[in-house]
Amino acid sequence: MQTEFIIVTPQFEKHIALIQLNRPKELNALNLQLMGEVRDALKMLDNDDHVRAIIITGNEKAFAAGADIKQMAGKTAIDMLNIDQFSTWDQIKKTKKPLIAAVSGFALGGGCELMMHCDIIVASETARIGQPEIKIGVMPGAGGTQRLTRAVGKALAMEMVLTGKFITAEEALRAGLINKVVPVEFYLKEAVQYAQQLAALSPVAVKLAKEAVLNAFNSSLDEGLHFERKNFYLCFASEDQKEGMNAFIEKRTAQFSGK
Ligand code: CAA
Repeated sequence: MQTEFIIVTPQFEKHIALIQLNRPKELNALNLQLMGEVRDALKMLDNDDHVRAIIITGNEKAFAAGADIKQMAGKTAIDMLNIDQFSTWDQIKKTKKPLIAAVSGFALGGGCELMMHCDIIVASETARIGQPEIKIGVMPGAGGTQRLTRAVGKALAMEMVLTGKFITAEEALRAGLINKVVPVEFYLKEAVQYAQQLAALSPVAVKLAKEAVLNAFNSSLDEGLHFERKNFYLCFASEDQKEGMNAFIEKRTAQFSGK
């Protein structure tokens, strides 16, 4: 895959792919092309049977400092409507395989929103997380007001969205926004460890479980329970269910095929 602003490594490790955002001078500001490349890479990796977990990372200084302000500054509302940048995000949202964010430095605006599209989030102690759009006369547009509020609750979400304040990785951990904080030299290693754990499991069950958890944000309890039950039953259509349960009974490690 030809890319200018991201580096895609489909076999970073066995069953693990890595997408690195790579506009370091601009702190990985998410211009339209970069986001299009992320969308296309995710689509490709989601369809690649060798891949069972996908890590998205930036560099030590920045995961991503938000949507590209220079690209947006002169636009009108109708330009924005016609550009329809969020259809790219809608596609990213459809990724079925687990996404792990390995975050260091700034995760701001669209950067925070991209991070929140991931299923597991590992951050370095140096991470600074925020939705500072309000400071440039706009507001979050790629899900920040919704995903942040669902993750951390109204009080902190309001404070972050209305004042634009950044929070530290430790604060994000305490608020339930991220999964783990580690010293900066370990954030990618830790993300890889999560990916290894997921890659050793049944890809079918992992996909169905991810879908069910995400469905909790869009449904009533009864609808969500119904959805969960269907996915639970569907697991029994897989060879992996037989392998997983037999391996348990036979006291051996399961070898999941994704079938
Ligand atoms: N868009 C475009 N360029 C950006 C950028 C962004 N979001 N963030 C940083 N850059 C560029 C800077 O313009 C600068 O480029 P030049 O060297 O050409 O001037 C370079 O990256 C380095 O940035 P700074 O010199 O500002 O670095 P700093 O360490 O002094 O400050 C920062 C770092 C606090 C992250 C600061 O860059 C900043 O506030 N960035 C903007 C953050 C922001 O407002 N993000 C939200 C964007 S809107 C959005 O995301 C909408 C949405 O919901 C989809």
